[in-house]
Amino acid sequence: PETITVQDLAARMAVRGAEVVKVLMKNGILATINQMLDADTAELVVAEFGHKVKRVSEADVEEGLEGAEDAPESLVPRPPIVTVMGHVDHGKTSLLDALRATDVAAKEAGGITQHIGAYQVDIGSGRPVTFIDTPGHAAFTAMRARGASVTDIVILVVAADDGVMPQTIEAISHAKAAKVPIVVAINKIDKPDANPERVKQELLNHDVVLEDYGGDVLGVPVSATKRINLDKLIEAVQLQAELLDLKANPNREAHGTIIEAKLDRGRGVVATVLVQRGTLRVGDIVVAGSQWGRVRALLNDRGQSVEEAGPAMPVEILGLDGVPEPGDLLVAVESEKRAREITEYRQRKRRDQAQVVATGARGSLEEMFS
Ligand code: GTP
Ligand code: MG
Repeated sequence: PETITVQDLAARMAVRGAEVVKVLMKNGILATINQMLDADTAELVVAEFGHKVKRVSEADVEEGLEGAEDAPESLVPRPPIVTVMGHVDHGKTSLLDALRATDVAAKEAGGITQHIGAYQVDIGSGRPVTFIDTPGHAAFTAMRARGASVTDIVILVVAADDGVMPQTIEAISHAKAAKVPIVVAINKIDKPDANPERVKQELLNHDVVLEDYGGDVLGVPVSATKRINLDKLIEAVQLQAELLDLKANPNREAHGTIIEAKLDRGRGVVATVLVQRGTLRVGDIVVAGSQWGRVRALLNDRGQSVEEAGPAMPVEILGLDGVPEPGDLLVAVESEKRAREITEYRQRKRRDQAQVVATGARGSLEEMFS
């Protein structure tokens, strides 16, 4: 729903707010400069000032951003994208750390040099798995609420000495709502009081039926800290991924999702992007939410500079003019002009929506003015 304040409308016509207020009054509308105007009223005002009105719809601005559907023959297999969820202290972080440490390339590079919001692990099979390191349920929900469907598979961590707990159940319902298959990691099996069988039985109560019980959910007993069965867990993820038949077209403009973003003192805006289709390259002009920029540099999850990033590859991107939000979609566009057009429109929309909330005004406009 699009609306505009008296002030913004005045600014766009390069007149003073008071003049717009006066014109409105002449038409029997009493308005302050912060008041929201609907499209018809605004159009009337603009006409009074002798301007022509051009309504630009959201569809006009956003058109083409989605991009054409990919032809089946353009699709090639891509790595699965995995999120780790589970109850507090059941070992999500330990598991992510342990999995990352199994990565052959990270080992070669002399350990893990930096921490970004997503990374790829290749245990040497040549089939990497991408992990998103924002395991918080809130982050998952927020991303989903913003329309970002990034995860292919959820690893549900359940501590074998503690069993199914409230946040385990929450994670199950998140995964089910998102229609994302679950692979269960029954963690802490090294502990003397570990009881993996009890975990499996408890999961039954929540319609997560492991293979042992005749279901199709894969479950692997692991120890994150003792590094037991991590390879089996990765194998289970790969098996699940094969069933999903994950594919993407690498030969098109890049589409991806912002995983996290921050303003870095030395480097400017640094955003972690998970490319989902197409290939992102240095020099590309990209739009991410209401920010845009020319990609100045791409860094992989080991902090190395790379020229490009294909599907399911997480990269840090430098060159955005502002900090986008996690869950924002990133799209490469053909020109700076186009990037500006889209981001200015989105910024205006965001501002107007914030004002609608602030003033309690109710507007339902589909159009904007330019
Ligand atoms: P939150 O982020 O707070 O929800 O916790 P988490 O799920 O990330 O758990 P974390 O990895 O921080 O682990 C919690 C505690 O469990 C830590 O003290 C870990 O060392 C311990 N822990 C994790 N995995 C294992 C395991 O496999 N075996 C044993 N014995 N301890 C473990
Ligand atoms: Mg943690």
